[in-house]
Amino acid sequence: MLDREKSRLITQCTGDAPMGQLMREYWIPVIRTSQLIAGAPPHRLTILGQPLVAFRSPEGEIGLMDEACPHRAASMALARNESHGLRCIYHGWKISAAGLVTEAPTHPEHFPLERLKSRSHPVQVRQDMVWTWLGKGTPPPFRELAFTTLPDDQVITATAIVHCNWLRPLETLWDVFHSQILHHDANRQMPFRGDNYFSKEGRRTDTGMQYDYPEMLVERKPYGFMHINRDARKQTTGHFVMPCVQFHSVSPDPLEDKALKISVPIDDHTTLLWSVVFNRHGPLKSTGFGMTNLGRVKDRDDLFNNLRAGPDRSAQTRWNQDRGAMARGESFSGFVEDVPTLTLLAEDNYVLESQADYDRSQEQLGPVDRAVVEGRRVLLDALAKHQSQGESLGRDVDATDVWSEYVLSETVES
Ligand code: FES
Ligand SMILES: [Fe+2]
Repeated sequence: MLDREKSRLITQCTGDAPMGQLMREYWIPVIRTSQLIAGAPPHRLTILGQPLVAFRSPEGEIGLMDEACPHRAASMALARNESHGLRCIYHGWKISAAGLVTEAPTHPEHFPLERLKSRSHPVQVRQDMVWTWLGKGTPPPFRELAFTTLPDDQVITATAIVHCNWLRPLETLWDVFHSQILHHDANRQMPFRGDNYFSKEGRRTDTGMQYDYPEMLVERKPYGFMHINRDARKQTTGHFVMPCVQFHSVSPDPLEDKALKISVPIDDHTTLLWSVVFNRHGPLKSTGFGMTNLGRVKDRDDLFNNLRAGPDRSAQTRWNQDRGAMARGESFSGFVEDVPTLTLLAEDNYVLESQADYDRSQEQLGPVDRAVVEGRRVLLDALAKHQSQGESLGRDVDATDVWSEYVLSETVES
């Protein structure tokens, strides 16, 4: 368990909240480039509770700025997308994609425009991800990760808007054990897992469902921490890279794709959850994890748009859980989708939405929850360092060789 005050500290990211201030020290991905069409109306988004607009100029430049116009706060979502920048429709200020005020009809003809500040934010594009830095002052160098320097055909990404606090998706990745219970049937059926995931021995529920009780080890790293989940069938590692990146394991085949999630707070109750799959050995194969999962999904801007459960999924509808499929023994969880990755998404996120956003004071944790505890400690320690020394934990650490491993137990060295 975690007392309510500490839980609030690591979950709340909007306004002056310390976690939000820390998050602003890092480059974070905020929108897929495919959502930005050259010359199209500005795209509204919110990150860390801050309303923003992103756009692509007719010439193809990508820009990001506060939704409020820097003159007198009219919405820049109403702005005209003109050559090289947005023009506010209220008094005609024009702001370039690079963040310069290039026209200000409200000011005298020869007024030095460099004295007017825009409310723009720097952008960096990696594959189809637009990253920004929302801090104050000069942005730090962009920190590359294992996939950010790969050619586009070696990476596939998707986003999902999840109705829970940003920490919940990370906690569920630190909680590797739930994958044997909540995702039991999905893992049994996945070509990359199946018999590679369960030992056939180990423990059983009183209904006969077999699972393997793991040993969970954690280790601090300069970029955050790693965890090792070791059970009778396998050993998998996961890596948390500050402030919101989590690499998770996919398959025991060393040539198979690798995966990660990035959990970006939209506000304190909503999260932009990135799914990224990459392969450092070459282009993603049509038979690989990425292309047989995310590659089969039509709408990768919000994975929820692909689910069978429909738009009325909520606590009131019990997220359209299929009790019939449960009774017939077809699905342990009652969430079944056409693509395995969507089944995992539905299972994970309906459970996450059902959890309280930040009260962790009544939890009763077991040894399998060790990485959950460690992840929270890393964030609390990072907050303390940021507040006392201005340090941004792990931000300047080279993490380009960090990704997750999955080794079958007979090949694990003792
Ligand atoms: S409010 Fe935008 S130009 Fe005046
Ligand atoms: Fe999960």
